[in-house]
Amino acid sequence: MQVESEIQKQLEYIEKVKKINNNKNEKLKYSILTMGCQLNENDSEKLCGMIEKMGYKRTEDFNEADLTLFNTCCVRENAEDKLFGKLGELKRLKEKKGIIIAIGGCMMQEKHITSKIKESYPYTDIIFGTHTLHKFPEDLYKVLEEKRKLEDVLDIDGKVYEGLPIKRDSNIKASVTIMNGCNNFCSYCIVPYVRGRERSREPRAIIEEVEELSKQGYKEITLLGQNVNSYLRVEREKCIKFEEYEDINSFATLLRVINKIEGIERIRFVSPHPKDFTDDVIEAIADCEKVCKLVHLPLQSGNTKVLKEMNRKYTKEQYLKLVEKMKSKIPNLTLSTDIIVGFPGETDKEFEDTLDVVKKVKFEQVYMFIYSRRVGTPGNNMENQIPDEIKHKRFNKLKELVESQITENNQKYIGTIQKVLVEGTSKNNETMLTGRTDSNKVVVFEADKSLIGKVIELDIVSEHMWYLKGKINSKFGEIPDNVK
Ligand code: SAH
Ligand code: SF4
Ligand code: F3S
Repeated sequence: MQVESEIQKQLEYIEKVKKINNNKNEKLKYSILTMGCQLNENDSEKLCGMIEKMGYKRTEDFNEADLTLFNTCCVRENAEDKLFGKLGELKRLKEKKGIIIAIGGCMMQEKHITSKIKESYPYTDIIFGTHTLHKFPEDLYKVLEEKRKLEDVLDIDGKVYEGLPIKRDSNIKASVTIMNGCNNFCSYCIVPYVRGRERSREPRAIIEEVEELSKQGYKEITLLGQNVNSYLRVEREKCIKFEEYEDINSFATLLRVINKIEGIERIRFVSPHPKDFTDDVIEAIADCEKVCKLVHLPLQSGNTKVLKEMNRKYTKEQYLKLVEKMKSKIPNLTLSTDIIVGFPGETDKEFEDTLDVVKKVKFEQVYMFIYSRRVGTPGNNMENQIPDEIKHKRFNKLKELVESQITENNQKYIGTIQKVLVEGTSKNNETMLTGRTDSNKVVVFEADKSLIGKVIELDIVSEHMWYLKGKINSKFGEIPDNVK
């Protein structure tokens, strides 16, 4: 099969680069900067897996690295400034020690960006896109062997490649990409242009990956996709058949099968689209005890007219109805969301609808964004772009409301017992441990480090805006015997 031989080829390139590097005396190092969403982070884990197999060791210090990588995002403007700033800084290192600079990810699918890099930062060695990530070993080999610059960006959708190495950031929580691309074309969003059309991974490959993760001791799995709850939808519509595997033919059936995998304690997923929240998905969340009851339900705007202009395919009323339905069917449901303020043409009155939905739903967490014009999207050509000043005013108004709700919401936790997956020591205080509730709230508490990686019960004693403080559940003494 073409895909398998491609992977074989890349594994051979890994060996070839390793050989070149083994002949060098010094220990080679690489650094990587990842921007953007969890899908990009998961892609970076794959890049790190390949790079470490090629003989490089990771460093967090750019000054030490022989190979420097950027995995870019272009969903909003600020990432561009960040990349160009870093590239400027690297010129000195390039001249001094001849480091290799590689830039990949979503931004590299944009022609105006790659042109700018070639013009203003010609010392960049490798430019690769989202559909050619798996070919990084080959690209690097060519640059090392042939001492030339290389651009490897494809405009057609990449295939789904299985079987390349991966180096994960955590040994407790793991991300598993289940589908790539997006077919929704929300009018503000660049993702469909840089990630291509929706295509799902085979059920068997996903299940095998999760089973392997469970064997390695992972406790929490996050299923990833730009439109994760439309898993296998396109394949169903196009009658593309995968090998039948445990009756998985939809997102809901996938959840049910993963829920049965022993050792895995928690399942999360991002990002679903409200339009694909069918009853079978709601029922699967309710039925599967391992599926966390925090659901991310991107709202974007609370106004029906703005939602139509955004091409979101639901109205304010439909969104609220969906929330009600989910709340009635899923006990202990909590919700998080994404909101954009200042979409072209949004009036003050229309923005009030967004505030209204936020007041009604009482989200656990709200990710707030100021609308950013993206070249190539319909939103960029719309008249009535909103002045920055008004965008910022609305953003601050929303932020105020959200923060007041967080304090109020946090109060509800005090005095409750929460199941917490212990993730490690607290960043700010090495003597404390930190973990997360089912609803993804950070809890900080004092306990023995042997509890890291376990799900324990904690009494919540106080709230501090961005985290809660907990105590080992008193009923169970110092080391609870409910430790799983
Ligand atoms: N596929 C996911 C996430 C897409 S990107 C989804 O549909 O929810 C993550 C978030 O970035 C989006 O939900 C949206 O709120 C925000 N976003 C996307 N394009 C944007 C833009 N042009 N300006 C500001 N925020 C944007
Ligand atoms: Fe972008 Fe919309 Fe697709 Fe999400 S669903 S990635 S916001 S186009
Ligand atoms: Fe950004 Fe690409 Fe993710 S544009 S948000 S990194 S899919």
